[in-house]
Amino acid sequence: MKEDIHTENGSSEAEQFWEGYYRDRERVWSGRANPVLVDVAASLPPGTALDLGCGEGGDAVWLAGLGWQVTAVEVSSTALSRAGAHATSAGLEGRIDFQQRDLARSFPQGVFDLVNAQYLLSPVEFPRDRVLQTASRAVAPGGLLLVVDHASVAPWSSHRHPNTRFPTPEQALEALNLVPEQWDTERLGAPERQAIGPNGESAIVTDTVIAVRLRTR
Ligand SMILES: C[S@@+](CC[C@H](N)C(=O)[O-])C[C@H]1O[C@@H](n2cnc3c(N)ncnc32)[C@H](O)[C@@H]1O
Repeated sequence: MKEDIHTENGSSEAEQFWEGYYRDRERVWSGRANPVLVDVAASLPPGTALDLGCGEGGDAVWLAGLGWQVTAVEVSSTALSRAGAHATSAGLEGRIDFQQRDLARSFPQGVFDLVNAQYLLSPVEFPRDRVLQTASRAVAPGGLLLVVDHASVAPWSSHRHPNTRFPTPEQALEALNLVPEQWDTERLGAPERQAIGPNGESAIVTDTVIAVRLRTR
């Protein structure tokens, strides 16, 4: 990992929650890239990528391995240091700029050929629509914004609640508040995938997938 990790002053509720979440667990995610990212990005020419809420770095390291120059943002320093260790063990630390930020408070500078937001969610106060709208403005002309979220939860999930209503893909797209004439929608749907639980159990779950490309003019 780069030595000069960007950090902010003063911890937020989001940082306290997510830092505790990661610190209480040895490793949370598989270390592999999310399947929709692999499906969408494997055939893209490498460029610059921004990964929002990168967790332990599975997506960022996968993109870097394909030649992308990645900026990976995460609120938890524990998650970031695991992501950094993953990048180092893959020999890819020079290709990833890890930044510790609360995205509700600040957002990286610049524009990117790919902006990736996979399950960017939080049980504590999080202005998700505003952050994703800011993310859309960080897409370079001709670049892609990829947003993937849960559209159902597995039976073992602690987030399972009978009254949970997930937005439809159309509602999620509308919340991005994009100017329609400026974007081409490449994917909009709720595909199924197989999820594996902590005890090896499996279930079919759905995700909301949005992939929109910013027109060059
Ligand atoms: C469900 S996890 C998904 C992690 C990763 N994108 C993946 O798919 O494996 C959500 C991630 O968003 C991060 N996150 C939540 N709120 C955040 C915020 N306000 N600023 C930055 N990251 C945040 C969490 O720390 C967590 O790592």
